[in-house]
Amino acid sequence: MGVGAVVTRHDFLATLHTQLQPRGYLEIGVQHGYSLRLASCPAVGVDPDPKVVVPLGPHATVVPSTSDAYFTTVNATQLPFAALDLAFIDGMHLYEYALRDFIGVERLAHAGAVVVFDDVLPRNQVEAARVQCPGDWTGDVWRIEPVLRAWRPDLHITLVDTDPTGVLVVYGLEPASTVLADEYDEILRHWPLADVPVPPDVLHRYHAVPPEMALAEIEDWRTTA
Ligand SMILES: C[S@@+](CC[C@H](N)C(=O)[O-])C[C@H]1O[C@@H](n2cnc3c(N)ncnc32)[C@H](O)[C@@H]1O
Repeated sequence: MGVGAVVTRHDFLATLHTQLQPRGYLEIGVQHGYSLRLASCPAVGVDPDPKVVVPLGPHATVVPSTSDAYFTTVNATQLPFAALDLAFIDGMHLYEYALRDFIGVERLAHAGAVVVFDDVLPRNQVEAARVQCPGDWTGDVWRIEPVLRAWRPDLHITLVDTDPTGVLVVYGLEPASTVLADEYDEILRHWPLADVPVPPDVLHRYHAVPPEMALAEIEDWRTTA
């Protein structure tokens, strides 16, 4: 991954797989399999309507389910791998779904795991609307970043300037934390489920770092943690 190159979310994920060498990978939102195929480790992809068109790794399984239903049926000891080290949240593009996905992932993961959200840097108001638009649609997943910063200041949270619509990297998890689940209704009261304008700092990516910087920070954290 060259400095200054346009880096897609899939480039970023692929590099993260190489860097972390995860023992297990969980993906919410599989669609055609373009991100799930990057996992050569034991992997589970969850999607109520998977349409996989590419060969997946030899240890990948697709679970045809909504993430909400999946999380009610599985605990960490039932995962088909030793540890959940890397997760990609790219399912329903509404922030309350992304929040529930994070709650579910954190419960299954461990303190050293890394979670990546897709679609946190919409490029305009239309693709950030809660009603799906034609073409690229981020929905309002961008709101997950301020929500996690407000309710979980203990997490490491980094916005990353990837193509086309940015990713959010979160680590320093606390699987036993119940803050987000306990405060879920309160969070939705603060952040009602309605369209709100995307702030200029999000549209212009003021707080997003280059992918190389995010990867270096993760490596520093892993080696000093
Ligand atoms: C943007 S696509 C995923 C793309 C894929 N991660 C990639 O990068 O190639 C979003 C997927 O989320 C799935 N999805 C929608 N609602 C979901 C839910 N409640 N739980 C899990 N997946 C969901 C859709 O069926 C769709 O296939």
